[in-house]
Amino acid sequence: MKRFTGKAVLVTGAASGIGLATATRLAAEGADVVLADINLAKAKEAAAAIAAAHGVRAFAFGFDAADAAQCAHVVEQAVGALGRLDVLVNNAGIMSWARAHEYPAELWDKVLKINLYSVFHVSRAALPHLLATKGNIVNMSSAAGLQGVPYAAAYSASKSGVLGLTRSLAVEYAEEGLRVNAICPGAVDTPLNQVSPIPDWADKAKIYRMAPKTGKASAPEEIAAAVAYLASQDACNVTGISLSVDGGQSAG
Ligand SMILES: NC(=O)c1ccc[n+]([C@@H]2O[C@H](COP(=O)([O-])OP(=O)(O)OC[C@H]3O[C@@H](n4cnc5c(N)ncnc54)[C@H](O)[C@@H]3O)[C@@H](O)[C@H]2O)c1
Repeated sequence: MKRFTGKAVLVTGAASGIGLATATRLAAEGADVVLADINLAKAKEAAAAIAAAHGVRAFAFGFDAADAAQCAHVVEQAVGALGRLDVLVNNAGIMSWARAHEYPAELWDKVLKINLYSVFHVSRAALPHLLATKGNIVNMSSAAGLQGVPYAAAYSASKSGVLGLTRSLAVEYAEEGLRVNAICPGAVDTPLNQVSPIPDWADKAKIYRMAPKTGKASAPEEIAAAVAYLASQDACNVTGISLSVDGGQSAG
């Protein structure tokens, strides 16, 4: 069953990992997609592969999620290319590790801008288009938004912020037919963990206390499946939730 035929979808951070799996999954279910990413070359390559594999329209646009003006501009580019917007997936994000008392101020700002502020800036620009289609937003939070993470204060704060923003937008727009939800993945096998590996100086035992109870990380496609559910009509009365896909990590 194709749940997204005729739907127009914008996925941020779509050149890699969860974002790429999400754009691919929604396209496989019939969506026309825009892949937005700071890595335009990789996003273009992915869009071409998606269009060829699934017979949908797929476009790539470059943007830096840390820049509010670029967040707004990429939404206009997406709507210009697709003609409408039904689903926004705010997925772009970075991870960083540092002791809180040594945390560089610039790094704190960068993590918050990319992981949290961009979710607001992209959503703000997308909301008029989503109100027109009675569409929905899926935000990529994290188990780190529900649990404290040692050495990752900025990341955890940014992902908690995403949950607060998700709930606020959900209640603000529910009566207008627009839904807003979040997903909280635990460990996922993506390049993020290679780009930002746990540093040698960290007490790894403190971090591994947060491991999935199932003993295994999720595949990006498993997170994409959860996005597809929340973004689809199957979830037509679901708004303001955070759906954990974390092998029981945040359960106790
Ligand atoms: N991998 C995990 O274990 C995990 C767990 C929980 C939540 N998440 C969240 O899932 C989301 C996707 O992460 P992933 O694991 O797929 O990582 P990834 O590194 O594979 O993908 C992230 C994408 O975001 C893009 N990006 C980074 N900075 C950007 C910027 N300034 N502007 C625009 N694009 C930018 C990257 O180019 C990349 O394509 C992130 O928000 C991350 O915090 C990941």
